[in-house]
Amino acid sequence: MNAKLSSFLISIVVFGSLLGVCHGGELRKHFYKDSCPLAEDIVKEIIWKRVASNSTLPAKFLRMHFHDCFVRGCDASVLLDSTANNQAEKEATPNLSLGGFDVIDEVKTELEKTCPGVVSCADIVALAARDSVSYQFQRPIWEVLTGRRDGSISRISDAFRNIPSPFFNFSSLKQSFAKKSLTVHDLVVLSGGHTIGVGHCNFFSQRLYNFTAGKNDADPSLNSTYAAFLKTQCKSLSNNITIVPMDPGSPLSFDNNYFKNLKLNQGLFQSDAALLTNKEATNTVDELLDSQDFFTEFGQSMKRMGAIDVLTGSLGEIRQKCNVVNS
Ligand code: HEM
Ligand SMILES: *[C@@H]1O[C@H](CO)[C@@H](O)[C@H](O)[C@H]1NC(C)=O
Ligand SMILES: *[C@@H]1O[C@H](CO)[C@@H](O)[C@H](O)[C@H]1NC(C)=O
Ligand SMILES: *[C@@H]1O[C@H](CO)[C@@H](O)[C@H](O)[C@H]1NC(C)=O
Ligand SMILES: *[C@@H]1O[C@H](CO)[C@@H](O)[C@H](O)[C@H]1NC(C)=O
Ligand SMILES: *[C@@H]1O[C@H](CO)[C@@H](O)[C@H](O)[C@H]1NC(C)=O
Ligand SMILES: *[C@@H]1O[C@H](CO)[C@@H](O)[C@H](O)[C@H]1NC(C)=O
Repeated sequence: MNAKLSSFLISIVVFGSLLGVCHGGELRKHFYKDSCPLAEDIVKEIIWKRVASNSTLPAKFLRMHFHDCFVRGCDASVLLDSTANNQAEKEATPNLSLGGFDVIDEVKTELEKTCPGVVSCADIVALAARDSVSYQFQRPIWEVLTGRRDGSISRISDAFRNIPSPFFNFSSLKQSFAKKSLTVHDLVVLSGGHTIGVGHCNFFSQRLYNFTAGKNDADPSLNSTYAAFLKTQCKSLSNNITIVPMDPGSPLSFDNNYFKNLKLNQGLFQSDAALLTNKEATNTVDELLDSQDFFTEFGQSMKRMGAIDVLTGSLGEIRQKCNVVNS
């Protein structure tokens, strides 16, 4: 082979693999098909069993996956415990209030019995999000590519820097998602995750009692009937204990009601309401009022979210226990 041709071939290979990396392209369908054929069945079985007796879990896992992916990529850093000289992402949980860690541990224990050292905690989190939400339908409602590996760093400061705040306006939300290569379309679609689960009063009470500093007023963009209801639940600005459903009509059902609520000015957080302050985002909200479109788009945006800065190939490790790095 002459030198020109071989360097051409090499450049194709190099360029091709760069493209692969850019798209997190080494994730694939059924990564464990040969190395641990039962992996996905084991995850599903345990998650379904636990969701059957605890209906709050789908919201926990969906949010856990989001927080994992937005902080250092989908590398299970969200699961790591603090150590003597490091505060982990988890420590941001008094106010981020994540849950379901015990269930992830149960899944990992079972997988380690079946195929030791093979299935990453990062893939377990991604599958748990999908399977928990899918329990309601008794079939998987989006595709999860696998092959993620686990990271070894988890810092509380990274969580505060990368998790968008419920007080963000549209441009801050857009920027937060753009930093993860997600579009305004993804932002709107994925915000639909707020069709299940709960929020603590202190994340929205200022919309009820203290919207303009010193005025004791309510947020004019919040439906006044809904605001009156929320005031009966959250009686003071400082209440950080009470929770309310984010989609009061169907808090346990994964559906597109979130977008119907938005159109009635019943988005719970400022960050929800903010989606109606931008033309492009509002157009997407309108599109997602169609249930079929919502399910299709949600699956596609989850795939992009699930590929953020993933560790694949020989990067990272397969943790033996999800809450600590291997020694
Ligand atoms: C767009 C920016 C987002 C902001 C500002 C935001 C903010 C929040 C806040 C403040 C809570 C309430 C936490 C609590 O009070 O305990 C919450 C809950 C939740 N979020 Fe988001 N979120 C965002 C995007 C997402 C995304 C992309 C997903 C997943 C696709 C998601 C899924 C959830 C779920 C399922 C809950 C309920 C958790 C539970 O019931 O324990 N969120 N979010
Ligand atoms: C709730 O507020 C109280 C009083 O301000 C504070 O001591 C406590 O740490 C807060 N709890 C959470 C979970 O933020
Ligand atoms: C969340 O917790 C951190 C550290 O415990 C604290 O600095 C921060 O103010 C809290 N944020 C909210 C919104 O309570
Ligand atoms: C359901 O799961 C949540 C999150 O892990 C947990 O806080 C709660 O105690 C569980 N409820 C029951 C009844 O087990
Ligand atoms: C959105 O919030 C950011 C950060 O607080 C602020 O700098 C910006 O001016 C706000 N944008 C709009 C349009 O209000
Ligand atoms: C009302 O909000 C302003 C900021 O917008 C804040 O400075 C003030 O402390 C809040 N009032 C109360 C009672 O929390
Ligand atoms: C406020 O919510 C009620 C339902 O509770 C709805 O009938 C009404 O149209 C909403 N108002 C606005 C301005 O969206």
